[in-house]
Amino acid sequence: MSDRKQHWEEVYKTKQLTEVSWYEPIPETSLSIIKLFRLPKNAAIIDIGGGDSLLVDYLLMLGYTNVTVLDISSKAIERAKERLGANASQVKWIVKDVIDFNPGQKYDLWHDRATFHFLINKEEQGKYLEMVHRYLGPDGYMVLSTFSEEGPEKCSGLPVQQYSENSLPNLFARYFEKIRCFTKMHITPFHTIQSFVFCSFRNKPAIS
Ligand SMILES: C[S@@+](CC[C@H](N)C(=O)[O-])C[C@H]1O[C@@H](n2cnc3c(N)ncnc32)[C@H](O)[C@@H]1O
Repeated sequence: MSDRKQHWEEVYKTKQLTEVSWYEPIPETSLSIIKLFRLPKNAAIIDIGGGDSLLVDYLLMLGYTNVTVLDISSKAIERAKERLGANASQVKWIVKDVIDFNPGQKYDLWHDRATFHFLINKEEQGKYLEMVHRYLGPDGYMVLSTFSEEGPEKCSGLPVQQYSENSLPNLFARYFEKIRCFTKMHITPFHTIQSFVFCSFRNKPAIS
């Protein structure tokens, strides 16, 4: 098992849903951005590093029928499935390190809150960028959220790459058209504040 996977399995074995800093009772910011895209209910949506986030619950409640959750931790996925009960069968679940992900399909929406920022070397960042570009449909959308430059330097004890409202779209500019970037404060369950950047993007046509 990779160190990365071991770390996250341990987190989800030892901490409950509301005991992790990234917990949100309602993922309001992501949901409000997704709403703006006016996607059809059968749009193929993937939540990268979804963990046991409640985003999937809300997407199902809104009537989306083609939702995938990917996470490196099997424990996180197990917990999300347990929480959803019978509704879990409406979701595709993938236990994988995103860096090794080879989707056999294209997505209409790629959502990632607080996973990409763990990729701190340029090679993995480049691989991620090319993967999203390749596996999003030509007009597909991406919602990406990371710690901002005013945010913590670590998340779950691991170092992260912080971004600004400028540096995040600059990194993705080759393959994605920026729609909007903004900074959002997240209040953790421990009543501390973490500064996040949220960016939405539209995929550019493939470069031949
Ligand atoms: C900070 S948590 C955020 C969870 C969720 N996105 C949310 O907003 O509540 C990061 C998540 O990414 C997952 N993760 C970390 N590195 C990953 C990787 N390389 N591939 C897939 N998932 C990863 C972790 O297991 C964890 O669930």
